[in-house]
Amino acid sequence: MKNIKRSWAEPYKMKMVELLKMTTPEHRKKALKEAGYNTFLLKSDDVYIDLLTDSGTSAMSDRQWAGMMMGDEAYAGSRNFYHLEEVVKEVYGYKYLVPTHQGRGAENILSKILIKKGDIIPGNMYFTTTRLHQELAGGKFEDIIIDEAHDPENEFPFKGNVDLHKLEKLIKKYGAGKIPYVSIATSVNMAGGQPISMQNLKELRTLTKKNKIRIIHDMTRVAENAYFIQQKEKGYEKKTIKEIVKEINSYTDGATMSAKKDALVNIGGFLAINEWEIFEEARNMVVVYEGLHTYGGLAGRDMEAMAIGIAESVSADHIKARVGQVIYLGNKMIDYNIPIVKPIGGHGIFVDAKKFLPHIPQEQFPAQTLAAELYLDAGVRTMERGIVSAGRKANGENYFPKLELVRFTIPRRVYTQAHMDVIAESAAYVYDRRKKIKGMKMVYEPKYLRFFQARFQPLK
Ligand code: F0G
Repeated sequence: MKNIKRSWAEPYKMKMVELLKMTTPEHRKKALKEAGYNTFLLKSDDVYIDLLTDSGTSAMSDRQWAGMMMGDEAYAGSRNFYHLEEVVKEVYGYKYLVPTHQGRGAENILSKILIKKGDIIPGNMYFTTTRLHQELAGGKFEDIIIDEAHDPENEFPFKGNVDLHKLEKLIKKYGAGKIPYVSIATSVNMAGGQPISMQNLKELRTLTKKNKIRIIHDMTRVAENAYFIQQKEKGYEKKTIKEIVKEINSYTDGATMSAKKDALVNIGGFLAINEWEIFEEARNMVVVYEGLHTYGGLAGRDMEAMAIGIAESVSADHIKARVGQVIYLGNKMIDYNIPIVKPIGGHGIFVDAKKFLPHIPQEQFPAQTLAAELYLDAGVRTMERGIVSAGRKANGENYFPKLELVRFTIPRRVYTQAHMDVIAESAAYVYDRRKKIKGMKMVYEPKYLRFFQARFQPLK
């Protein structure tokens, strides 16, 4: 019996199912054209397997649904707020909580409070909404992630790490007084869901403490980062995900959270902070932009589902299966020789469109084109994370990011291993006919976060 493999399976079973719509190639061709060749503009009814994002797309547990029924929809002082507050303190370790409707609501408030015109915000790679709020508040984002993060083939296990020399240079150049905080994401989204190491965080804490600079943590996918630390960093093999999450947070001063990811809810977020003065100001401001400080734009039931989801998100079985499913898909793609970002990250597979379609120049949107082709093949919806997402600088010039990626983002607890097979096989079929694929031109460009609504036309 020794040679029989032991498989693992999802640590849940199905109690209700959502039927999927199968589509024909003709239907998809028409739908894609109507959507301006932008997968964000497709109707979800026209999609078979939806890998656009892992944001707000999780399947909630029966306990979370039961929690929804326990919603206290009082305008002020909802019981669910106090439950959420308790869980955030207990699981994440931050002192004060301000709920918001989602992550960017927290980013808006925090940026307005901490950033003055002309400030510099160093960070381990940008995220679209985070950087935009920093810029709208008058700041300038500076990338201080290690160079390895910009190289899709570099297999360094902690490509989310900060290059401390880059940060030191910025401090020297601008002075610590111009840097209100360092913006640190765990599981760096735009780098491919790459984790930051505990060692790096500790060193960053030492450097920032010396210079009296805060660290603000984008903790959207902190549990997934904790899993990689447990699996790959010396000294953490025996620690629980919960312990690791709390230690990560202990090196930071506050956090913005999009609970739509790690925390397994369809809507919600918060700002958490250890300084009373910032909390007070945020509590004032949330009333203007989101809602009263005990609901922040959420229903009581949403806060209850979030509180329960946070606790589930740090369970060992959950996180192993969640990241395990992503790794399963990644390995299948590697078997088909599809160029993907390595190591495989926590929330999705990022295909290197520059390598997949080397004949298409970046101005002709290789990743956007590839996402369109993938949809045509089998109805799998993915997302561009390249030049379209990167947008334009304040002076109007395009950013030309080194990474030109298509993200296959895996919703949590939603699809099965068989779906993963279908996805990998479809990508392999598109890879097979890659040489025949032509680029696109942009025919409509919105001013902010253009990737959401831009429209394209295929080049002849
Ligand atoms: N920070 C990170 C790292 C994110 O991935 C997101 C959202 C946000 C902040 C903003 O949070 O959407 O709740 O306002 N990312 C989604 C995605 C949209 O598809 O990656 P939000």
